[in-house]
Amino acid sequence: MTAQEIRKAYLDFFVSRGHQVIPRALLVPQNDSSTLFTGSGMQPLIPYLLGEPHPAGNRLVDSQTCLRAQDIEEVGDNRHTTFFEMLGNWSMGDYFKKDQIRWFFTFVTEVVKLDPTKLYVTCFIGNEENGIPRDDEAAQIWQELFEEKGIDAKIVEIGSQDDGNKRGINPGERIFFYDDGENWWSRAGGIKKTPIGDPCGPDSEVFYDFGEENHAEGFGKPHPASDSGRFVEIGNQVFMQYKRTETGFEELAKPNVDFGGGLERIAQAAINSSDMFKVSVLWPIIEKLQEISGKEYELNKESMQVIADHLRAAVFLGVDGISPSNKEQGYVVRRLMRRAIRFAFDLGIDQNFLEHVVPAIADLYKDDFPEVAEKRQEIIDILVREEKVFRQTLRAGVRELSKLGQDGLTGTEVFKLYDTYGFPVELSVEEAFKQDVKISENWREEFDALMKQQRERSQTASKGTFKGGLGGQTLQHKKYHTATHLMYQALRDVLGDHVIQRGSNITEERLRFDFSHSEKVTPVQINQIENIVNEQINSDLKVSFEEFPTKVAVEEKGALGQFGDRYGETVKVYKMIADGAVKPFSFEICGGPHVEHTLQLKENDKQFRIIKEEASSAGVRRIKAVLA
Ligand code: ALA
Repeated sequence: MTAQEIRKAYLDFFVSRGHQVIPRALLVPQNDSSTLFTGSGMQPLIPYLLGEPHPAGNRLVDSQTCLRAQDIEEVGDNRHTTFFEMLGNWSMGDYFKKDQIRWFFTFVTEVVKLDPTKLYVTCFIGNEENGIPRDDEAAQIWQELFEEKGIDAKIVEIGSQDDGNKRGINPGERIFFYDDGENWWSRAGGIKKTPIGDPCGPDSEVFYDFGEENHAEGFGKPHPASDSGRFVEIGNQVFMQYKRTETGFEELAKPNVDFGGGLERIAQAAINSSDMFKVSVLWPIIEKLQEISGKEYELNKESMQVIADHLRAAVFLGVDGISPSNKEQGYVVRRLMRRAIRFAFDLGIDQNFLEHVVPAIADLYKDDFPEVAEKRQEIIDILVREEKVFRQTLRAGVRELSKLGQDGLTGTEVFKLYDTYGFPVELSVEEAFKQDVKISENWREEFDALMKQQRERSQTASKGTFKGGLGGQTLQHKKYHTATHLMYQALRDVLGDHVIQRGSNITEERLRFDFSHSEKVTPVQINQIENIVNEQINSDLKVSFEEFPTKVAVEEKGALGQFGDRYGETVKVYKMIADGAVKPFSFEICGGPHVEHTLQLKENDKQFRIIKEEASSAGVRRIKAVLA
């Protein structure tokens, strides 16, 4: 089966078991400032996993586009990409372990037709300190399923990954208990790392064995949770029974299932290829690169993998409204593109090539994701423009090099060229040779030391963006969220109905809102907008929500949305209305949460104030505002 066929078969499989398909969330989390990107299928569903009813019901299925930018340096092994799709299914307090494990096993062995003797599974060993028992139930369900296929599956305790590296596995062993480093799921890792306020729980992971020849050296003995490359995780069933609080782990009233499985990895197992880049949503990009460069993939794997991965990520970020810039998500797009262009030099591609690759990527998705088809040309234009600008920068770097004086090229210079101009390191050295510029002997050590410092700095920065915990739960966050709705309506009242939300990001300190509007918002208009919002706050609007079929909400009731047609069949609409009024001031599709009445925004005599208005990208303005 191709990746496209697997995606479709998975959705159908769960639909026939009572699930509703929900549309993917954007790669950029809306109203959640705790992470830069959507990194798993559960992330947009957190409020529902914590108990809020989901409008589509309590059995959900989707394929969520994800971005994990911390893996950026790992791209180039057989299983890590920055962008991927995560197939997901959820039980919101409905079915639990027995159904989940059987269904996933049936899906992979009978629909995708994976050989069950190549599957290995892991379960949670338990954690006494936090009162969480060993998951014997999951292990036994697995054992029965393997037995039904005539496979005698032994259950063994391993412990940590290190224990596994030392012990390895013996013939017949198939089900393994690991500690929380491996079999506990939260957005940030093991038990101790679980963010306060987040749902979490023990998990059971499924691995596909790509064979001994894929066991890389230096990883000890083979076992499923090893990083050696032989066993690749194709699915993770999280039994989400807990919420972490300040004092420990609180059982949720109803336990949930959160399943996530990498589409590309399942597709990779389906063709039994230890190389993920052979799957049908990546290989055509590689073919394009072979065609453009005239080079063979087998001899140029790393470069082609990096380029294919990074440009695919840049395309999807573009579809979701993120263009290259120097800030936040836009900066990640820029870095991904520059890295791709840098690796293209290794293939001898030193001319513009994105105009050929980007359409090939869009074509892989346009039939399954209408928004890709819709934005195809826009994305090509944006990325091709960025490539041109970067190549100009590279030329500036070459000129800079030619100006170097007596000391020639030092590691500090190489770093500066790399850091300021994005000038590829190898290219600096090559260019120095060409221009007959002297190169200092220890340039590499000096450069590496500076790189290390920078990496340490940026690691801290990316950890900082994960504040640990769900922004959406605090009162301050709710206030800013409510203020955002008021401001959205005020913007439309003052500027016109062409104003559509293009992005929203809320922290404890401010709101930030991107919207379509092609001119600067004048100081007079800003004043009008502030006045309207403050008036509405003072009128103490009551905040409540109702659920409607999406069509009714948008077409009949005129609810405001964000990106147009990207909702499930039913939606929640938040209404902010003054006592005795007939028409609400604000009526907007939204998952919540909000305050209950708008006077709460005025607590301690706070006023709504716009503190910044600027361009965000072409045709999009950005406003930052505070309650101060
Ligand atoms: N949320 C789980 C994961 O990301 C399924 O692995």
